[in-house]
Parts: sequence; structure tokens; C-alpha cells
Amino acid sequence: MNKTERFAFLLGVIALCAGIVSIIPLLADAGSESEIIKLPAPRYDGDTSIEETLHKRRSIRDYKDEPLTLAEVSQLLWAAQGITDPRGLRAAPSAGALYPLELYVVAGNVNGLSDGIYKYRPHNHDLLRVAKGDRRIELCDAAIGQPCVRNAPVIIVFSAVYERTTMKYGGRGIRYVHMEAGHAAQNIYLQAVSLNLGVVAIGAFNDNAVKRVVKMSDKEQPLCIMPAGRR
Ligand SMILES: Cc1cc2nc3c(=O)[nH]c(=O)nc-3n(C[C@H](O)[C@H](O)[C@H](O)COP(=O)(O)O)c2cc1C
Repeated sequence: MNKTERFAFLLGVIALCAGIVSIIPLLADAGSESEIIKLPAPRYDGDTSIEETLHKRRSIRDYKDEPLTLAEVSQLLWAAQGITDPRGLRAAPSAGALYPLELYVVAGNVNGLSDGIYKYRPHNHDLLRVAKGDRRIELCDAAIGQPCVRNAPVIIVFSAVYERTTMKYGGRGIRYVHMEAGHAAQNIYLQAVSLNLGVVAIGAFNDNAVKRVVKMSDKEQPLCIMPAGRR
């Protein structure tokens, strides 16, 4: 190697080292964002009859300034999309059992769960953290400032991957996906009554802003936001 080649080689080594050093924090950060939280097993019994839950169901937008427990969050998620059958079938019906819905948890005041955004994984009944920190104010802004979104200890956000259903049912699959979101949201409403919690289904929000806050993939579309808290 002549002098110029040695100099170029040295520059290359320095650039390579600088590159490695600069991505170490990113790798460390990515690792810490993606924590997995095992959820408490859901209960399959309760003290309230289905008739009483239907009778008492209301949209509740005011919540006490008290934390929810991880068990309560677990129960709400299970009611919406939990696995209820060894074949992988879920608590809410799904056209062709194709399950286009995804659920996110925006946690701001839950005992046993750090503030952050999590994706619910029905098959493991666990949460995969996708972002750290309290994102409720950002989500509230995305939901045109509706105060219940900022004040709820936890917010469940529904998205849908339409292709999972339209692949089989074509354009008609779109209505199936919307029906399924309704089924799952009603399950959350009824489970909330049984837990003596308050929830509300929110449809008024800016789609792109919600996608950005919750870090949805390009394939997903947000459908519904459900703040939940102690009434
Ligand atoms: C698809 C849908 C979208 C809704 N969007 C909102 C919303 O953006 N904000 C809100 O406060 N309530 C929202 N609601 C709740 C309704 O206002 C509520 O269901 C209605 O007032 C009837 O009250 P109830 O649920 O207590 O019977 C929505 C409900 C549905 C089904």
C-alpha cells in the first residue's frame, strides 16, 4: 500500500467505527422499547348477569383520577379479542375467522404497567411495547381534543388490516371489518360494566394523527378509540 492508499484505508476504518458507535444507542433503544408484558389470566366468571350488563351499559366520559390494575386492562383486552377456543377463535366473531383487528393500549396510569404504547397479542395474551412514555395528550389532540382521552388511565385503540378480510370477501369485506370492530367494542363496553369501569367508543379523530401517535404500520387503519377508567 502506498501512502495515499494507507490514508484512504485509515479513513475507511474510522468511518466504519463511527458508524458502529452511532448505531449502538439506537440498537439499545430499540431493545428497550420492545418489552413484552405477560398479562394476568382473564377471569371466566363474574358477579353481573349479561342482562344486567346490557341494562347498565352507558358511554362514560368522566373517570376518577385513580389507576387501573393490569388485571382490569387484561380483562378488557380479552373481552375484545381474547382467545376463547383451542382452535384460536376469539371472544368476538370474525368473518371467516380472519381476524383483521389489532388492539393497542395507550397506558398512562396503570398499576404494573409503565406508561407507553403496547400492542395486544391475543395468542400469547401479552403486550408488546412499541413506545415508552405517556402519550395520552398526543392521542387526545389526535381525537380533536376530547378530554376523556387525556383523562383516562388507559385507552384502547382499534386498528384494522382490511386486506386480511377483503382478500377473501372482496369489497364486501370492508363492512365485515366494521361490524367486527362493533362486536369487539361492545364486548369492551359490557366487560367494563361487569368490572364497574367506564368506557366510551370514540369515532371522531384524525386518522393520520392517531396512526402516527400509536405507530401503526402502513397496512393498518384506525377505527375506534376507547378510553377506560374508574367511574
Ligand atoms: C361509532 C361510534 C362513534 C362514537 N364516537 C364518539 C365520539 O367521538 N365521542 C364521544 O364522546 N362519544 C362517541 N360515541 C358514543 C356515543 O355518543 C354514545 O354511544 C351515544 O351518545 C349513546 O349513549 P350510550 O352509549 O350511553 O347509550 C360514539 C359511538 C359510536 C357507536
